[in-house]
Amino acid sequence: MTFLFNSDPWRGAVFAEAFAKELPDLHFAMDAAAADPDAVRYLITWTVPENLARYRNLEILFSIGAGVDQFRFDAVPAHVKIVRMIEEGIVRMMQEYVALAVLALHRNLPAYLAQQRAGEWRDIPQLQAGSHRIGMLGLGQLGQAVLDRLKPFGFPLAGWSRSPRRIEGVTCHHGELGLDEMLAASDILVCLLPLTEDTRGFLGAGLFAKLPKGAALVHTGRGPQLDHQALVAALDSGHLSAAMVDVTDPEPLPAGHSFWSHPKIILTPHVASVTQPASAARAVIDNVKRHRAGLDPIGLVDRSRGY
Ligand code: NDP
Ligand code: OXD
Repeated sequence: MTFLFNSDPWRGAVFAEAFAKELPDLHFAMDAAAADPDAVRYLITWTVPENLARYRNLEILFSIGAGVDQFRFDAVPAHVKIVRMIEEGIVRMMQEYVALAVLALHRNLPAYLAQQRAGEWRDIPQLQAGSHRIGMLGLGQLGQAVLDRLKPFGFPLAGWSRSPRRIEGVTCHHGELGLDEMLAASDILVCLLPLTEDTRGFLGAGLFAKLPKGAALVHTGRGPQLDHQALVAALDSGHLSAAMVDVTDPEPLPAGHSFWSHPKIILTPHVASVTQPASAARAVIDNVKRHRAGLDPIGLVDRSRGY
C-alpha cells in the first residue's frame, strides 16, 4: 500500500520521516512516476492531478491546505473521501495573522502609514478595544480559534455561520437575518469562509453597505469571495476606513492593480497561514490510522456543502 505525496519536497521530507516512524508498513512515495498506481490508497496534493483515474484503489484524497475549493469534486470518484487539512500549525498562524490585522486596523495603522509617507505627524482619535466590535464570517476551526485568541483584548466578539453555534463569549448568528444583524454591528469584519458557490463574490457592494460607516475589513478567506472594485469604491467613498487583504483573484495580482498602491489597503501575498509539515504529518498520520480503524477522518469534506 502506498501513500503518495504530491507537494513541495521540503515538506515531503518531513512527512517521509514521520511516516517511516509511525506507519512503517505503508510505502511513502514522492515520485508519482515511480509509484505503482494500483498500490496508491492515499494521495495528498494541492490540486487534483489530471491522471487521478489511474489510482483505481484510491481511498482518501487529502488536501495539503485547509481549503478544498481548488479541488474539482466531480473529478474525484464518489467513493473517495476528500479530507481537508486540520492541523495546529495552520490554526496558530491564522490566529497570529488575524490578531495582527485586527490590531493594525483597530490602531489605525493604514492611516499612520499613509501619514508617514506624507511626512505628517498627527494623532488620530483612538477608540478603546471595548468599542470596536469584531464580526467573524465563518465559525469553523479557524474562525473559532481566531476569536478565542482575540478574547483577551476585550473586543466585543460576534460570528456568523451556516448552522447555529454556541461559543462562550461570542454572540453567534446564522442565516440571512443573522448576517444582517451581525454586519450592522461589526466595526472590523473578518472573512474566514470557505469558497463555495454560496460565498463566491460574497464580499461585495451590498454587504459593505450593511456595515457601519468607518468599518474595516480583514480578508483571509479566498480571493474570489471579494469584489475588488466594490472594496475600492467603499474605501474611496469613506464608507469603509481600511482593509487588510491576504487573498485575491487572481493571485498574484497583475502589475498596476489598484490594491498595490491603495493607501487604505494593506496587502499580503496569501501568507496568513501555511501548512506546517511536522504538525501536518502528525494530523495526516492520525487520519490514516482512524481510517484504518474504520473511523471517519477528521476534516472529512461534505461534498454537498462544498467544504
Ligand atoms: P471550516 O470548514 O472549519 O469552517 C467554515 C465555516 O464557514 C463554518 O463555520 C461554516 O458554517 C461557515 N460557512 C460555510 N459556508 C457558509 C455559508 N454559505 N454561510 C454561512 N456560513 C458558512 O473552515 P476553516 O475554518 O478550516 O477554514 C476556512 C477557510 O479559511 C478555508 O476554507 C480557506 O478558504 C481559508 N484559509 C485561508 C488561508 C490563508 O492563508 N489565507 C489559510 C487557511 C485557510 P457551519 O459552522 O454552519 O458549517
Ligand atoms: C490553505 C491555504 O487553504 O493556504 O491552507 O490557503
